[in-house]
Amino acid sequence: MKVLGIAGSPRRGGNTDTLLAEVLRGAAEKGAETKTIVLSKLKYVSCQHCDACLEKGICKINDDMQQVYKELAEADVIVLASPMQFMGITAEAKAMIDRCQALWAKKYVLKVPPLEPVKERKGFFVSVGGRKVPNLFESALVVVKTFFRIINVTYTGDLLFTGVDEKGAVAQHPSSLQQAFLAGQKLVTE
Ligand SMILES: Cc1cc2nc3c(=O)[nH]c(=O)nc-3n(C[C@H](O)[C@H](O)[C@H](O)COP(=O)(O)O)c2cc1C
Repeated sequence: MKVLGIAGSPRRGGNTDTLLAEVLRGAAEKGAETKTIVLSKLKYVSCQHCDACLEKGICKINDDMQQVYKELAEADVIVLASPMQFMGITAEAKAMIDRCQALWAKKYVLKVPPLEPVKERKGFFVSVGGRKVPNLFESALVVVKTFFRIINVTYTGDLLFTGVDEKGAVAQHPSSLQQAFLAGQKLVTE
């Protein structure tokens, strides 16, 4: 069982990084092989809408996204972590998702599976936001659920914490780290 963590925050060692690490620690404790991709360390551009992918389902831009496509295909579980920025996911995470237009093209234009080998894949979302307002994650959830649906990954849940702002603040949130650890265990055992 391979669990791929995608760290979408530009802040290294911040709140979503911490939660993601705990999710992966929980999964590893149950025997899963885990790997984290740090989007801010990769070099890739956003989708240029060149439509080249409509022909073969392959993005012609030769940057670090080529590695991300491979990792997505290999994973059994994909955990996307992104804090809220201006009421959405980070630019890094959104650009990665937009580059999956090539996978959209496979599925809807070329009528082939977006990810191969074809297998059951699970998706999970981890997010925090500094504000304490209802529906803080509403817009992000639409994007993330759409991403997983397009690439045939079953959305299995999320961990979302409001009022988490300063670096390290998530550790003060009661039970957040334990919830993350348990979520990681559950992702690979259920
Ligand atoms: C550019 C930027 C935009 C932000 N926008 C929001 C926002 O719209 N809503 C919110 O609740 N918090 C917002 N925040 C606060 C972050 O979500 C918060 O600090 C979070 O804990 C950062 O997580 P990280 O440590 O994983 O990067 C924003 C922070 C930055 C830097």
